[in-house]
Amino acid sequence: MPKFRRPLVAGNWKMNGLRADGLVRANAILDHARRTTLRCDVVLCPPASLLWPVGEALKGSSIALGAQDCHAQASGAHTGDLAAAMIVEAGGRYVIVGHSERRAGHGETNAAVAAKAKAARAAGLVPIICVGESQAERDGGRALEIVSRQVMESVPDDSTAANTIIAYEPIWAIGTGRTPTTADIEEVHAAVRKAWGRGDGVQLRVLYGGSVKGSNASAILALAEVDGALVGGASLDAADFCKIIDACP
Ligand code: PGA
Repeated sequence: MPKFRRPLVAGNWKMNGLRADGLVRANAILDHARRTTLRCDVVLCPPASLLWPVGEALKGSSIALGAQDCHAQASGAHTGDLAAAMIVEAGGRYVIVGHSERRAGHGETNAAVAAKAKAARAAGLVPIICVGESQAERDGGRALEIVSRQVMESVPDDSTAANTIIAYEPIWAIGTGRTPTTADIEEVHAAVRKAWGRGDGVQLRVLYGGSVKGSNASAILALAEVDGALVGGASLDAADFCKIIDACP
């Protein structure tokens, strides 16, 4: 039975690949999408250098382009950063904000993530706001508390389920091959929906991310609370990424 909320599968390529690799990968995924009836929305998030060429390749297709980050300001003296409008101009429709690699590596607070999400929406992008606990926080029994607070503080006040997506990514599951139990995923996703705190929570898409691959995607995507996946490592392998897309119920 198809899901109540349409699932979304996003590939976060992180800092991987030059133009030729990226285009081969994007075209392989496009070929697959043309041959199948997708049961989910599909988004590719290449590194900034590939936004334009991958965006051109995806133009007019059923696969959308996303970026991995944006700045909270529309323009200015922010060396190395990208404004949301630049992502839109390259063909982007989504942007990941608050990934744990940015929260940890670039000192992004919940407030900073909320400002990025706001800027993304102002430019017409759908932010995919990432939240997730560390190993120590989970071991200390604080996963629900931490994730709930991240949702409350990283989501701009005027967000709606139609213009925002949340991705639950436990930090200890990212790139490690470890995943929470399906019961734990369900529990956190329900907590995310509760922390969302708005009347449209039943429409909110909550993705799971952290070591999703072709071999475990069916079990995770079948969960009632899971509305898709944010995929890192496995999104670099077109065949495995397509398996994840096909695993959507
Ligand atoms: P992973 O990364 O799939 O390699 O665990 C997920 C992510 O960081 O979005």
